[in-house]
Amino acid sequence: MSKKRIAILTSGGDCAGLNAAIRAAVHRAHRLGWETIGLINGTAGLLKDPAQYRTLTPNDMDSYVMRMGGTILGTTNKGNPFAFPMADGSTKDLSGKIIDGFRSLNVEGIIGIGGDGSFAILNRLAMQGGLKMVGIPKTIDNDIGMTETSVGFDTAVAVATEALDRLQPTAASHDRVMILEVMGRDAGHIALAAGIAGGADVILIPEVAYNLESVAAKIKEVKNTGRNFALIVVSEAVKTLDGGKLELEYMGGEKRYGGIGQYLSNKISDMTGSETRVTVLGHVQRGSQPTYNDRLLASAFGVKAVDLINEGKFGRMVAWSNRQVIDVAIEDAIKAYQQVDLNGTLVHTARALGISMGD
Ligand code: F6P
Repeated sequence: MSKKRIAILTSGGDCAGLNAAIRAAVHRAHRLGWETIGLINGTAGLLKDPAQYRTLTPNDMDSYVMRMGGTILGTTNKGNPFAFPMADGSTKDLSGKIIDGFRSLNVEGIIGIGGDGSFAILNRLAMQGGLKMVGIPKTIDNDIGMTETSVGFDTAVAVATEALDRLQPTAASHDRVMILEVMGRDAGHIALAAGIAGGADVILIPEVAYNLESVAAKIKEVKNTGRNFALIVVSEAVKTLDGGKLELEYMGGEKRYGGIGQYLSNKISDMTGSETRVTVLGHVQRGSQPTYNDRLLASAFGVKAVDLINEGKFGRMVAWSNRQVIDVAIEDAIKAYQQVDLNGTLVHTARALGISMGD
């Protein structure tokens, strides 16, 4: 009799630690007697005929895989199957085709490694098609609810902190105010964590309304202490003074946040008389080797996801809570979008250190 199978897919934007999660799931599955396959490019691989996948064996999953950024399976953050963009500009519901694709794989369980957007889609597909799914949360934005952290966040914060470490000496050498624009979509977790760890003077996040007078006052306060430079971290989703979103348009009309660093730079130099420069960190935050924390988290999540399938528990997302891996209802996690807690420890810490949050 052939072995029972698990399908693994990565979905949404990539981040560091995806391969570590895939590797852990494959090793655990094979120890429990399951076969594993990996979908190519997430659900996009199921729109091909035949469905695109590859077999994943422990031999393919040497420890080098864990060290690699990106995803060996490929991913997509476009093409919602319920409103799939067609060549003529219209959209079509291709959910039935994707569900058929999943069924053609003859799998007993699916591990979806994704963020909140991917989970919403995968969960809807699972409900509609009676698919048995377990989720592993990943996102540099750390905005998935019901888990303290997600795969990829730690690495993104490490990269942003290192960027501040590199900006500080050049800022000091040139008497400059350096603005670092970081990712995070509508949540300010990366900016807040890296800003504290990297010694920023000002941290601007979408959750806190700012005014430029406060930012300028902080820069002047720093200068009055005799220090000749300042560091500002700004989340990409921080709005303009009149509440506007700053976005850039890419191929196919896709819009992404971008431009707030430069917008602030000109205003801050006018108000403070300081020379400013802007660094937009962008996808560098996603692409590096995972930190040890992300490797541990991904490994624990990969193992737990397979354990859940092995126990016949579906519709669950693995999560991190109080130093343990737990599981929660995926539906609850999707609903519990997690922005920065303004009464939480990190905001308190930032303020207590004299860091301006711009308010
Ligand atoms: O959700 C992860 C993320 O990196 C966000 O922080 C960022 O806004 C977005 O994805 C960028 O998307 P793309 O890779 O499509 O440019």
